Amino acid sequence: MANTLKIRTFEEYQEKYQQSIENPEKFWGEIAEEFQWMKKWERVLDWNFDEPKLEWFKGAKLNITENALDRHLETRGNKLALIWEPNDPKERFVRYTYRELHDKVCQLANALKEMGVKKGDRVCIYLPMIPELAISLLACARIGAIHSVIFAGFSSSSIMDRVNDAQAKMVITADGLYRGAKQIPLKRVVDEALENCPSVEKVIVYNRLNWEPNMVAGRDFKWEEVVDYQSKSCPAEPMDAEDPLYILYTSGSTGKPKGVVHTCGGYMVGTAYTFLNVFQYEESDVYWCTADIGWVTGHSYIVYGPLLTGATTVMFEGIPTYPDPGRFWQIIDKYGVNQFLTAPTAIRSLMAHGENHVLAYSLDSLKVIGSVGEPINDEAWKWYHLHVGKERCAVVDNWWQTETGAVMISGLGNISPMKPTYAGYPLPGVQPVLLNQEGQEIQESDVEGYLCMKAPWPSMLRTTWGDHERCKNTYFSNYKGYYFSGDGAKRDKNGMYRIIGRVDDVINVSGHRFGTAEIENAINTNDNVVESAVVGYPHPVKGQSIYAFVICESEIEDEALMRGAIIESVAREIGRIAIPEKIQFVSGLPKTRSGKIMRRILRKIAEDEIASIGDTSTLLDPQIVDELIAGKL
Ligand code: WTA
Repeated sequence: MANTLKIRTFEEYQEKYQQSIENPEKFWGEIAEEFQWMKKWERVLDWNFDEPKLEWFKGAKLNITENALDRHLETRGNKLALIWEPNDPKERFVRYTYRELHDKVCQLANALKEMGVKKGDRVCIYLPMIPELAISLLACARIGAIHSVIFAGFSSSSIMDRVNDAQAKMVITADGLYRGAKQIPLKRVVDEALENCPSVEKVIVYNRLNWEPNMVAGRDFKWEEVVDYQSKSCPAEPMDAEDPLYILYTSGSTGKPKGVVHTCGGYMVGTAYTFLNVFQYEESDVYWCTADIGWVTGHSYIVYGPLLTGATTVMFEGIPTYPDPGRFWQIIDKYGVNQFLTAPTAIRSLMAHGENHVLAYSLDSLKVIGSVGEPINDEAWKWYHLHVGKERCAVVDNWWQTETGAVMISGLGNISPMKPTYAGYPLPGVQPVLLNQEGQEIQESDVEGYLCMKAPWPSMLRTTWGDHERCKNTYFSNYKGYYFSGDGAKRDKNGMYRIIGRVDDVINVSGHRFGTAEIENAINTNDNVVESAVVGYPHPVKGQSIYAFVICESEIEDEALMRGAIIESVAREIGRIAIPEKIQFVSGLPKTRSGKIMRRILRKIAEDEIASIGDTSTLLDPQIVDELIAGKL
């Protein structure tokens, strides 16, 4: 992408920001000109937050893969697009140039077509962090199929919910995956899910572990048998700017996870523009984001943002502590990584292993180091800045969400002022406000409020799959005329934002989002459980951990056994990533007279903030609070 889009000084940022607010259509229209469109838009933006109606570059035609791959072939055909580092450092790494990646994507795209996948069809992808995962996203986009990636830590029951909600026609998976010293099955989990997924006609299975998994005749096909013989060219399907590109399921405060829908045009412009500017990417740089493509960070900042920019993006299959806690730093030195993006939970876990592991590597190549996915505490920020960044690199703290598609508030490489624990300033085109309880904008500084947006941005969600009303109710109804993020934030006197965390019933465990209701439903599937209430509490490494208060039907004879059963039900319904760290058996829950659980009280108990529980006299049964405190784990 042309360097004309890069902001180079803080003054320039301020100027651009002003322009983006005064005339968003002109601002984004000019940025969009830098991409390749098959047909120009009729209008840059048409919106209201009431329905909500959110249309960017309406009438335009494009294919995002033409912008991420073909557009670079002439000038960057031999440049590395993707470097893949395996779980085991002894295994060979894989590198694809833009030309090679283009060819791989076209081959899979041709296979999908041959197997009956058409524009608009949904394809669910349940794969390890291998190049074929990135290739699968792009192959879907190439032919206009809508991809929906399911993080490989989710259970069969979660897969089933997502596949059925999306009515997916195909699933792409692998026999299993490597995770440190462990091998974890995937195909078996998919098989279990598909027993209840009538929409799925075909499954492509990649061989990662040589496990020879069970194959259902007529339904399951080996990747190499359907892909390898395909032609390396495949025409890019012309897509409307507002056609869906993908669905990504994410948890909220109520019900089952919802399918956040992103569209082709705006998402392309938003991810590329933010990637270039947040990381201040230069043509010969090597960029690495440690996220999993199962989450939005991997979609936007391993695959789309970097490739749209013509960058070299690194993808890592393994975990930070295998074979030892120096693994990240070893990879940085191995490839000369210039921009590095990881999560606070990884930083804290490596911090706990001591600095010797990081001091063993030079890390000379690093210029910008990023943090994303959850609030970063002061201690972790400083450790990261000192030991990884050597006080030389810019630390960028990227605040955004699955729903926003791209970074919203963050420093821009080394051109923005840094302040530990502050995400910083809004990117051009982003208009954050802090609202008070009454929904009025707070003008003062050093005050906390609900973080909302008062204007649209190109990469924002358009709807929730199959249920527009839910999108409206979740994000656009709490405060009329605003997009509500669900986060609380604080703004200092210089206008920098610090994200405090969720103010709704969403728990962020190691950067993974879960709704309390979702976990409670899983716990309640247990025959012996009458009712449960789940809250988050601070955890030194994971950021937050899950505390469950559970009422059982009868006297529990063996608490350990019952805890085990509850853990199993959460693992079965959602995945092991969501199991509660603490489970307290109780005889009742603090409820208001209208029967609403007072989570605020449960949170105080879980956080050990007994003194600030406050007035309990309005509760139906105030004594229950004493019981909960006495039995606290
Ligand atoms: C939290 C991940 C503080 C926040 C990109 C948000 C953050 C939720 C930050 C979205 C950050 C993300 N500082 N909190 N830099 N980044 N969050 O959808 O609570 O997986 O609402 O998107 O993570 O999580 P999601």
